Amino acid sequence: MCGIVGAIAERDVTPILLEGLRRLEYRGYDSAGLAVLDSKHHLQRARKPGKVAMLEQALSASPIHGTVGIAHTRWATHGEPTESNAHPHICNQTVAVVHNGIIENHDTLREQQRAKGYTFTSDTDTETIVHEIYENHINKGLDLLAAVQATVKGLHGAYALGVISKQDPQRLITARMGSPLVIGVGIGEYFIASDVAALLPVTRRFIFLEEGDVADLTRQSLRIFDRTGKQVEREIKESELSADAVELGQYRHYMQKEIFEQPRAIADTLEGRIVNDQVIEQSFGHQASEIFEQIKEVRIIACGTSYHAGLIASYWFESLADIPCRVEVASEFRYRQPHLRKNTLVVTISQSGETADTLAALKEAKASGNVHSLAVCNVAESSLTRESDLILLTRAGPEIGVASTKGFTTQLTALLLLVLVLGRRHGISAKREKELVHHLEQVAAKVEKVLEMDESIRLLSEQFGDKEHALFLGRGTMYPVAMEGALKLKEISYIHAEAYPAGELKHGPLALVDSEMPIIAVAPNNELLEKLKSNLQEVRARGGKLFVFADGEAGFKSEVDVTVLDVESINDVIAPIIFSIPLQLLSYHVAVIKGTDVDKPRNLAKAVTVE
Ligand code: F6R
Repeated sequence: MCGIVGAIAERDVTPILLEGLRRLEYRGYDSAGLAVLDSKHHLQRARKPGKVAMLEQALSASPIHGTVGIAHTRWATHGEPTESNAHPHICNQTVAVVHNGIIENHDTLREQQRAKGYTFTSDTDTETIVHEIYENHINKGLDLLAAVQATVKGLHGAYALGVISKQDPQRLITARMGSPLVIGVGIGEYFIASDVAALLPVTRRFIFLEEGDVADLTRQSLRIFDRTGKQVEREIKESELSADAVELGQYRHYMQKEIFEQPRAIADTLEGRIVNDQVIEQSFGHQASEIFEQIKEVRIIACGTSYHAGLIASYWFESLADIPCRVEVASEFRYRQPHLRKNTLVVTISQSGETADTLAALKEAKASGNVHSLAVCNVAESSLTRESDLILLTRAGPEIGVASTKGFTTQLTALLLLVLVLGRRHGISAKREKELVHHLEQVAAKVEKVLEMDESIRLLSEQFGDKEHALFLGRGTMYPVAMEGALKLKEISYIHAEAYPAGELKHGPLALVDSEMPIIAVAPNNELLEKLKSNLQEVRARGGKLFVFADGEAGFKSEVDVTVLDVESINDVIAPIIFSIPLQLLSYHVAVIKGTDVDKPRNLAKAVTVE
């Protein structure tokens, strides 16, 4: 999704803006641009479709410098990824704006502005904002801050904005509603960005703006106004992330790095949350005990990979903790007038904490008045954590690859902690909790072991390079694991992949099976194993090529058209975490063979901050 960087300083800000844009590349984008006010207070702008590297090339050919500036990576929504649609958008060579989010009333604004004779140079909703600021407000006598405050009052939808003006060259104005925005605090300089990662080389001190805030930054001062226009103080927080937390290091791709970071990320997610073989309830927030006491059922809401984590957790909630649990895709939940019973815990799951559908679904759920909310999230200062009663942070560290890997397995780890604390009140005995905690504490080491399969999976992946379709099968918790495996393969290798519960095969998908169709099965050694084996026989009988990731003790053997890869033998409860790893490695290696852009697959963005 789009990214914003801005700076006001004594030094030249162009290199800071460019480095910030490079650090936001992982979010997905298709054009980039920046604008600065030069020493004569003229607005200078450069924009390019394609990568930030293209913008850099353009800037080395015709450099621009300035001490105030804004920059943007755009992920096309309104209008194609062309230079004229790229941000910043400028009005009358005077005001420049970068914008993340979507302005829902842009059609109305555009009609009104056209009627007044304003001309448009792009198809974007953003251009209506810059016209509104300059033509409608500055031209009528307001200063830049007042003009932005007046403009945002008339905007419907989501926005994070950075605004500069040649008439007010010592100022950078920023505002947010529904899209994330942070202010970086330097010494005699300020920065803005849609993500702290963009600013880590220049500061570790951040202010997280709240919904409806507008901020007025000069080199020496910062004033923040809330949605009512009242000046407010917002706390400065120190980020624990280091600038190199987002460096690639020895790895070829971020996805690869993040797959291999999983043992540490899982261990960090458990750290300090278990004492004397019991999960500490306060890890979820100080109100946790009071809220958990009332909970009778759980509703999980999420998107994509996080939704798959939720599906696995629903098996755990019902089978281990005896708590009714339902899981829903956020974009469906938010529009279907759901019925939530009193004493439901609404659990949202999100790596980024900024997914527009998940945020909107949470608002919808809270509006019903009956529920308590808990966020399982990887970003401490995200919109989702701010909106939730309770929070359990996954401690995966920044996830840069668009395809979520360590985000997913740390979500599962965190969700299992939640199942245990809630389950305690619904029949999980201290003995059973101790047993399960013991398994959880072994997960990081088991993942480490499974990662040793990397080379054999790389060799296996060569058989997928020419495939156009793949079928993933699993039963029980392995069905959502299969769904996640199929999602990973399709999003980064562009091979069409579907997942089915193995028992569903004969109700339709079996018709697809022939010698060209690779079928990937996940087979832990559990009570469903014999049933799964019968399903796989159905595939073999139709000439399908089977690839089975099986518990070493499940009794599978490689033979003609059946390739078996032994996975560490493990307890069934934690099996979904462990079996996800070889599927991640498989999709990674297939994507490398196919030569796709592994970390930034086409058409996708890291944080889906628009609907
Ligand atoms: C797939 C993937 C996406 C995200 C989804 C939700 O690999 O990463 O499906 O899981 O967009 O994102 P979050 O978890 O940030 O809410």
